Amino acid sequence: MAETARRIVLAFRPVGEPKSSDFRLEEFPVPQPAPGEVLLRTKWLSLDPYMRGRMSDAPSYAKPVGIGEVMEGGTVSEVTASNNDRFARGDIVLGHTGWQTHALSNGAGLRKLDPKLAPVSTALGVLGMPGMTAYTGLLEIGKPQAGETVVVAAASGAVGSAVGQIAKIKGARAVGIAGGADKCRYVKDELGFDDCLDHRASDFAARLKAACPKGIDVYFENVGGAVFDAVLPLFNPFARIPVCGLIAQYNATELPPGPNRLPLLMRSVLTKRLLIRGFIVWDFAARLDDFLRDVSQWLKEGRIKHREDIVEGLENAPATLIGLLKGKNFGKQLVRVAE
Ligand SMILES: NC(=O)c1ccc[n+]([C@@H]2O[C@H](COP(=O)([O-])OP(=O)(O)OC[C@H]3O[C@@H](n4cnc5c(N)ncnc54)[C@H](OP(=O)(O)O)[C@@H]3O)[C@@H](O)[C@H]2O)c1
Repeated sequence: MAETARRIVLAFRPVGEPKSSDFRLEEFPVPQPAPGEVLLRTKWLSLDPYMRGRMSDAPSYAKPVGIGEVMEGGTVSEVTASNNDRFARGDIVLGHTGWQTHALSNGAGLRKLDPKLAPVSTALGVLGMPGMTAYTGLLEIGKPQAGETVVVAAASGAVGSAVGQIAKIKGARAVGIAGGADKCRYVKDELGFDDCLDHRASDFAARLKAACPKGIDVYFENVGGAVFDAVLPLFNPFARIPVCGLIAQYNATELPPGPNRLPLLMRSVLTKRLLIRGFIVWDFAARLDDFLRDVSQWLKEGRIKHREDIVEGLENAPATLIGLLKGKNFGKQLVRVAE
């Protein structure tokens, strides 16, 4: 019997928090590669917060996924048939083939991975897009100096965990913010941050202030919302704020209740001469080789640690993305689609 492939498509655009019914699982015949193409079988699918943005048609930096189209996503796949001279059967490649078990590719945008260098799943995490986001945002915009204080939220996650560890390598004090005692313990005890605060604690703002006795020089913004409210009064003059993500706002359907705090923000920007700069990882694509060289080396030396949160089976991707947006993941969220 012919093998059946599966894919998850966007069925509806979510309003607020996505629901399982916003996704649809479909079966389709495994496609055959045309001349110049390869057939890819997905091993690993990366789940990332940006996927919530692709489900919405609000104007953004990237095109939304269309209704009925396969959900977008980074993947590690095995080449199972090849009509392309650059790839052989059995090659493992990094691609962006989305939430499906099989895909065709003409090879554009595929990068071969060497399983001897690192577990191939790391190409979606610490040695992939999230790691590169941490490296470039911190070093190109944050520019931490020895002795300065760097604060990052979602600190146990794919991006935040690398931000704090790279800050430490550069000689800065790293303070993490994470949801819950287990995540905070991991960030401090295993990743080696100087401190980590639970943003759900009722006295979070006071604890953050106590953890940053010399103020904040770099705030790597991953979440926005109430966390930013606690961070804002602590900035030192000339602090740098790479704005990487605003996950606390991704499911929001309206602005938060007043009072309007924009004048407060602008006053701080002026009087403290703050640098606030948004970025998308591929703005710094030219740094890819530097990133791979440095972070591979730091991983080998044990100076950077990472953690993966693995869910089995493509069919579980929707519930897992819904959970990721609420902090249910603990480490880089991956779906094992096939062995
Ligand atoms: N600009 C870019 O190019 C780029 C690239 C990659 C990622 N990003 C952004 O970087 C951020 C982190 O991404 P990631 O892949 O590393 O995800 P992640 O940290 O592995 O997972 C997301 C985490 O966000 C935290 N979170 C969710 N809702 C929150 C809330 N209301 N307040 C505070 N924290 C909340 C949760 O951690 P806690 O349980 O600890 O709260 C959750 O585990 C996201 O904002 C993402 O959009 C941007």
